[in-house]
Amino acid sequence: MTGISLHAFPGYESEAAKLATALQVQLHAVDIHAFPDGESRVRIEPVAGTAILFAGLDHPDSKITPLLLAAAALRDWGASRVVLVCPYLCYMRQDKAFAEGEAVSQRVFGAMLARFFDRVITVDPHLHRVSSLADVMPGIQADVLSAASAIGEMIAGDDSLRNVILVGPDSESRQWVSQAASQAEADYLIAQKVRHGDRNVEITLENAASVRGHPVVIVDDLISSGATVCRCAELLSRAGASRIEVAAVHMLADDTALEAIKAAGVTRIRSSSSIKHPSNAFSLTPLFVAALEEEVHHGH
Ligand code: R5P
Repeated sequence: MTGISLHAFPGYESEAAKLATALQVQLHAVDIHAFPDGESRVRIEPVAGTAILFAGLDHPDSKITPLLLAAAALRDWGASRVVLVCPYLCYMRQDKAFAEGEAVSQRVFGAMLARFFDRVITVDPHLHRVSSLADVMPGIQADVLSAASAIGEMIAGDDSLRNVILVGPDSESRQWVSQAASQAEADYLIAQKVRHGDRNVEITLENAASVRGHPVVIVDDLISSGATVCRCAELLSRAGASRIEVAAVHMLADDTALEAIKAAGVTRIRSSSSIKHPSNAFSLTPLFVAALEEEVHHGH
C-alpha cells in the first residue's frame, strides 16, 4: 500500500481519528507494550509513502523513547517520509542556560526530532528568545500553527463576554493575546511577570483600573502549576473585574492547580484539545487539516 497513513499514539486515538476522517486517510494504532523492566516494545503498522505520526508530548519523559522508536519503525517498515503532528511540543521553554551547567533542552530536543522526522507540525510552542521553530529543528520542515484565532472566535461567539477585556499575564503572551483580541474585536492589556521559582511568580499590571466592571479573559499559551494565572486573577479581582475567565492553548494543570485557579476567582477555564483535560473546549483539528491538506492531496 502506498500513499498517506496516520498513526495514533496511545492516548491520542480520538483526536487522530477526527483528523483521519477529515483528511480521508487510513488510521492505525501505534502499539506500545511496557515490559516489566520499564522498557517499551513499539509496534507500528507497516506502510509505504508518507506516515503521519500523531503524538502529543505533555508529561514527555515516558513518551519520548516510544516516539523515537515508532518513527524509526515506520521508516524501517516502508515509510519514505515520516511527519510528526504534535499538538503539544515539550521542552521548548528552556531555550538557554539560565545557570551554569544547565542543558539547553530546547536545542537538544529539537535536534533529536530533526533526526527522526522529515516534518514536525505543532501548535503554539513556547518560543521566546528563538523566533522560528525551524531554527530549533535544523534541516527539516517545522510548522507552527496558532490557536490564538480559535480562542478569539470562541470569545467573540460568547454573548456573556460583551465588553470583555483580554489580559496577557506576561510580555511573552502578547503574541497570542493580541491575535485573539483582534479576532474578538476586544481590548487587551499585557501584564508584567517576574518568576522567582516554579510556583512563585509576581505579576503587575499598569492600567489595572481599566478592568473595573468588565468581564476579563486571561489568555496564555500554557498553564502548568497555575501560579501565573492565580496571581493574575487575584490582581484582576482586586481591580474590580466583574468576572474572570481563562483561555489557554495548552492545559497541563492538575487538580490541585485547578482548585487554586478557582480559589483565585476564575469562574471558567477553557483550553484547546492539545492535551486531554476537563477544560477542553475547542478542537485543533481544523488547524491540522489545513496544514496537511496539501501533503495529503498533492504530495509534499
Ligand atoms: C510562560 O511564560 C508561559 O507563557 C506560561 O505563563 C507559564 O508557563 C505558566 O506556567 P505556570 O502555570 O506554572 O505559572
